[in-house]
Amino acid sequence: MSYHTAQLRLTTPADLDFVLAAEVTSHAAGYVRLWTRDRHLQSLEDPDECHWIVEDTATQERIGYLILLGRQDPDQCLLVKRIVIAKPGKGYGRSVLTQVLDKAFREFAAHRVWLDVMEENHRARSLYRSLGFVEEGRLRECVKVGDGFTSMWLMSILRAEFLPSEH
Ligand SMILES: CC(C)(COP(=O)(O)OP(=O)(O)OC[C@H]1O[C@@H](n2cnc3c(N)ncnc32)[C@H](O)[C@@H]1OP(=O)(O)O)[C@@H](O)C(=O)NCCC(=O)NCCS
Repeated sequence: MSYHTAQLRLTTPADLDFVLAAEVTSHAAGYVRLWTRDRHLQSLEDPDECHWIVEDTATQERIGYLILLGRQDPDQCLLVKRIVIAKPGKGYGRSVLTQVLDKAFREFAAHRVWLDVMEENHRARSLYRSLGFVEEGRLRECVKVGDGFTSMWLMSILRAEFLPSEH
């Protein structure tokens, strides 16, 4: 299978129809929560948050988006709040997360990058593990889905794990 590569650019208000449509689709599949348009707009302005469009490197077609929180966190812990790739399984997620980790640790001086992921989201969990994220714990039945509840895993990667040559 040939893998595609992705690049990041800052999201603009004109991208929000695309972002919201991708978010609704992923939410319906049970993978992500929903933000309002206003919450996304606020994120574009907030210096603590990075809101990026993921685009195909070759064609600049919009493929998805990614939100990183905590640039000003005094503990230097950054949160991958949301990643949505509208064309899954083609390598875009791996490509973009590799770049985001590089940015977080080298450019933003992160000490820790963390995220939470639904237990049934095997594609995402396997991708995060293969990038070096470690499972820290299971938030048991913390999300209501229909009449039932599902669990989430907390995962993180530390600076020393991403940049071992520094230590
Ligand atoms: C999760 C997501 C971000 C991953 O991005 P992607 O572009 O699909 O991922 P990639 O194609 O780069 O890589 C997926 C990896 O998972 C593997 N994979 C695919 N389906 C899988 C499954 N059912 N179980 C385990 N692994 C799986 C692939 O083999 C691939 O590994 P490889 O690179 O070693 O071949 C994307 O699928 C997505 O946006 N999904 C919907 C929203 C979502 O779940 N967001 C994350 C919330 S925490």
